[in-house]
Amino acid sequence: MKAYRAAILRFAPDREPRHSAIYEEDGLLVVGPDASGNQVVQAVGPYQALKSQYADVPTQHFPGRLIAPGFVDMHLHYPQTNVIGSPADGLLPWLENYTFPEEKRFSAPEYSAEAASFFVAELLRNGVTTALTFATSHPASVNALFAQAHAQRLRLITGLCLMDRNAPPDLFNPAAADGSKDVTEQSLIDSEALLNKWHGQGRLGYAITPRFAPTSTDAQLRGAGELAAQYPDVWIQSHVAENKDEIAWARALFPDSRSYLGTYADFGLMRERAIYAHCIHFDDDDRALMRETGAAAAICPTSNLFLGSGFFDYAGADRIGFKYGLASDVGGGTSFSPFHTMLGAYYVGREGQTKPGLSLSPQQLWWQHTLGAAQALGLDGQKGRPSVGNLAPGCEADFVVLNPKATPLLARRTAGANTLDELLFAMIVLGDDRLIEQTVIS
Ligand code: GUN
Ligand code: ZN
Repeated sequence: MKAYRAAILRFAPDREPRHSAIYEEDGLLVVGPDASGNQVVQAVGPYQALKSQYADVPTQHFPGRLIAPGFVDMHLHYPQTNVIGSPADGLLPWLENYTFPEEKRFSAPEYSAEAASFFVAELLRNGVTTALTFATSHPASVNALFAQAHAQRLRLITGLCLMDRNAPPDLFNPAAADGSKDVTEQSLIDSEALLNKWHGQGRLGYAITPRFAPTSTDAQLRGAGELAAQYPDVWIQSHVAENKDEIAWARALFPDSRSYLGTYADFGLMRERAIYAHCIHFDDDDRALMRETGAAAAICPTSNLFLGSGFFDYAGADRIGFKYGLASDVGGGTSFSPFHTMLGAYYVGREGQTKPGLSLSPQQLWWQHTLGAAQALGLDGQKGRPSVGNLAPGCEADFVVLNPKATPLLARRTAGANTLDELLFAMIVLGDDRLIEQTVIS
């Protein structure tokens, strides 16, 4: 066992997210192996109350530092690291002019391996310890990322990006490039092989990954849904209702579905652990479908602001009651830093569509990028599954050590914080990777 003494931030799962934080000004976090050898939180609380019980445990002291749960990023694209900050008039031209050309380069295993190594390091540098990410349609890109995440013990979920129409053909699965195999069939065969190879290896998970409805045929979406039915424990990830032009396109391609989101339901792609990025332009029937199926939204504020896609409707989501959490959406998103994403979410919340003026509390913003995101991913200890995004006993011991004095302005501003909300908000507004002094993996 090992113990860490510092200020400690964690969350109460049974409280309203707005008031869910538990803060120890001088806390002790005790970490040790569970029955299967994973490092989990054994005890957490005030140092004075726990110190005699754990007097024999080697203790590392971080004076003036704050220990908080590792961040959970619910949606991003590892092949888009080089695309961040590419100017475009909106989603579809951005995909065509920047994203698809870059993703083609991942057919080369060496290119994928170098990109995966940079990507995993960048996540950890920014305090992200669990991520659900896209790869490309090349199996080499999936293998490279899983291998790198496994080596670094990052909790990572990814999968082969399914596309079989409306994109450059050299972005489709390369095994079918010579025309000897059917692109659609090959993409499903490769998905299943990758799923069987990686899902459940250490901290890795597989996600069945249709990019979005417009780049898949009916046959590919049907195959993805059949695979999902066969493997109920894996994730599903896609995009939905991000941009008005995209929605018109999806409606034209699948006119029989009630809505764009309805298309995914029609192909058996909505359930718990199905994560849909964006979910901006929804009506209440869409919101009810999210709630009833247990699917969750990955909210991508910096991406939505950057690409001019719109504002996630927090009030609408809470009124109907479906699960959500935060995501960077690199490279539509503008930063790997959870602090930038939380600040973007704050701006989006202020713009909330059905309830103008709604503002998200600092605790609620932080919860959305930790425990809330873990709950949305089905990684909160329910049904015997692992628990991340919090520092309660039994949670995997992934955490960040924050230095609230990391920059002159942060030092000045956090010194003047009188409440927990003021302290958290100062870090959300002024913070970036410089705040993360250390990322500690379970
Ligand atoms: N919709 C389909 N593909 C993408 C993508 O790569 N990024 C974003 N933001 N939306 C998408
Ligand atoms: Zn995305």
